[in-house]
Amino acid sequence: MNPPVAQPNAHVRGLAEALGLPLASYRRDHVKNCVVRALRREQVTDLNALVALVDGDPVVRTRLRRSIAVSTTGLFRDPTQLRWLDSAVMPSLTAGVKRFRAWSAGCAAGEEAFTVAMMLEWHGVLGNSEVVGSDILEESLAEGQSGVVGGARIPAGMRGRVNWDLRDLTAGTTPGGQFELILCRNVMTFLTPPAAEAVARTLAAALAPGGVILVAREERIEDPESLGLVPISGSAYRRSH
Ligand SMILES: C[S@@+](CC[C@H](N)C(=O)[O-])C[C@H]1O[C@@H](n2cnc3c(N)ncnc32)[C@H](O)[C@@H]1O
Repeated sequence: MNPPVAQPNAHVRGLAEALGLPLASYRRDHVKNCVVRALRREQVTDLNALVALVDGDPVVRTRLRRSIAVSTTGLFRDPTQLRWLDSAVMPSLTAGVKRFRAWSAGCAAGEEAFTVAMMLEWHGVLGNSEVVGSDILEESLAEGQSGVVGGARIPAGMRGRVNWDLRDLTAGTTPGGQFELILCRNVMTFLTPPAAEAVARTLAAALAPGGVILVAREERIEDPESLGLVPISGSAYRRSH
């Protein structure tokens, strides 16, 4: 009798387990590109060998995790969009607030969380704010926690306002409580449409009434009204009261 033919899904499950990432939630073409590049880079010829390498070599594992989760970021990424947020949204959002909570969902090595903290300082509310920086990669959060981003040391007073949170956004959980501002930029674009929709639903539910969620300029939340969101620009949505 012939041995059972291994299902491609079993390989993918093996890789997902070895990487500790919800691979099925990421777009297939994105995962495939990352895997093909990894096979070439690590000089192995098949998925089984790659899984073994990921299991046995933390450097290979981190490299592939960062590639699939996409670690590209930067302080004040997309200044045009942030200038708009700063002038069109932040004044009314921060006016008269007693306590302001912001969530950078998919914060990479903290750059986006610190960007938000700096904007809150400009608006004079950092002292009564909490910024949560969450990411699926603990290695990225550890970088953020070090307080040095892009070679710049973040002042202690600002670092103290940011809490780090290890979280897979596709798992449907939040850091708890409600947020006046949520940034989730350049994350949903790598997810399958159902996974992105589920993440949008989770984020929308974590917004305080009147709170704002910002995605990247090229991203959109599908059917925002069904989540209680009103578009206020192409990439920003306000939760209706
Ligand atoms: C392209 S970076 C964007 C970082 C930042 N938001 C920005 O726009 O510069 C994507 C980030 O999302 C994180 N990420 C990817 N999948 C995730 C998931 N399922 N749950 C939480 N974070 C995730 C990655 O680790 C990475 O830090």
